Amino acid sequence: MSARGNFSSKLGFILAAAGSAVGLGNIWGFPYEVGQGGGAAFVIIYLIFCFILCYPVMVTEIAIGRKTQKNPVGAFNALGYKKWNFVGKLGLFSGVLILSFYNVIAGWAFGYIFEMVAGNFGIADQFGDYITNVFKVGAYGLVFMAVTAYVVSKGVSGGIEKAARLLMPTLIIMILIIVGYVMTLPNAIDGLKFYLIPDFSKLTPSVVYNAMGQAFFSLSLGMGALITYGSYVGKSDNIISSAAFITLTDVGIAFLAGLMIFPLIGFMSGGTMEGAGRGPGLIFVTLPQIFGEIGGTLGIATGTLFFVLLCFAALTSTVSLLEVPISYVVDEWKIKRTRASWLVALFIFIIGIPSLIGNGYSEFFSTSFTTYKDGGTDTDFLSFVAALANDTILPLGGCIIAFFAAHIWKKHNLDEELSNGAPGYKGSFIQKYLNFAIGYFAPIVLISVFILTVLFKFFGIQLI
Ligand code: TRP
Repeated sequence: MSARGNFSSKLGFILAAAGSAVGLGNIWGFPYEVGQGGGAAFVIIYLIFCFILCYPVMVTEIAIGRKTQKNPVGAFNALGYKKWNFVGKLGLFSGVLILSFYNVIAGWAFGYIFEMVAGNFGIADQFGDYITNVFKVGAYGLVFMAVTAYVVSKGVSGGIEKAARLLMPTLIIMILIIVGYVMTLPNAIDGLKFYLIPDFSKLTPSVVYNAMGQAFFSLSLGMGALITYGSYVGKSDNIISSAAFITLTDVGIAFLAGLMIFPLIGFMSGGTMEGAGRGPGLIFVTLPQIFGEIGGTLGIATGTLFFVLLCFAALTSTVSLLEVPISYVVDEWKIKRTRASWLVALFIFIIGIPSLIGNGYSEFFSTSFTTYKDGGTDTDFLSFVAALANDTILPLGGCIIAFFAAHIWKKHNLDEELSNGAPGYKGSFIQKYLNFAIGYFAPIVLISVFILTVLFKFFGIQLI
């Protein structure tokens, strides 16, 4: 084993990468986006994007990582294209930004565990007060960041792989239990209809845009997180099938999250599905009300279970976000992993303080970063950082990574790397499709997303 560390097995890598992908984006983000996007039509577009666009980008990131065995900046240097390492730096920058606000939301979820244990279902009505209680949610966030730093400090196979091996299967089992339970509730069927039967009249260009952004974020693409994880993968592992498995797991868990939430909303709304489009507060406001309605010990148990599960999912994602800058400072600045983990985590926590203070209900900016169906807008600091990192830098980074791999590093080198561990790859349909997707389709779609975001979210010009 090299001094950088490696995953101890193929399964370890797959679980860690799936753990990175599965997170708040799946369980908190996906359902509220579906609710906003009008239900099943959004789900279909999302699924299509995951497979035809995101999967090829994922394969490319992992291949660059494995080929070079380096962090996202070092990877471009190692391939001999030092000028292109700005892409890696862009990735580091966006990773720091994403973790800074992601950890704030993870902190909310973490605090909800205690609210549920205490049977405080009324938190649903006090969500606004809860998240503006800066010292309280700040302390939860600090603890969450510390746990993240601890896991990363233990290294790739000792910390990250071990955590993922335990957390991922537990998560899936817990979700299945809750899904099983909610299906028995009255009016669950109305939630299922909303979620599964598409109404294509709801399919506007902005729904397509949101589905694309959601897919890309959910699969942890565009910032080199998977270049980093790929750098710990063995030469004989099959990247093509591993990436397919990771994509399926991520999509599968998002889908299950919807199966657990929409029947609940069906139940709660008496079948009208009112409240499905409420936006980011969806799971924090809607779910505790339902747990309260279930009531008693069962309500406490399901509520606690749910938020424990959400924190598990978030933790394997925060770990992957922190691993990116850590791999960079460990490789390039030769700083010890343990010290680097704690220092960088503290730094990112501090960067996150404006997002902690300026969230949901405060107005920092006059332009709105998101407009919701109910007419609400986001003008707060957290939304600004999310718009900058998720909707702007990630698609730009993904576009350049794909373009670079196909046209600068060249497709035949990418294909060469991919065929290690995947003997049937060359000459297959997948190879032909990947070459097309990486060379043309992904760069064009991603640069369009980037341009639309900049125009709309930063200049207020709405084209779609
Ligand atoms: N995909 C994770 C989620 O859905 C978040 C995440 C982790 C991420 N690492 C990432 C997003 C890297 C973009 C890039 O919650």
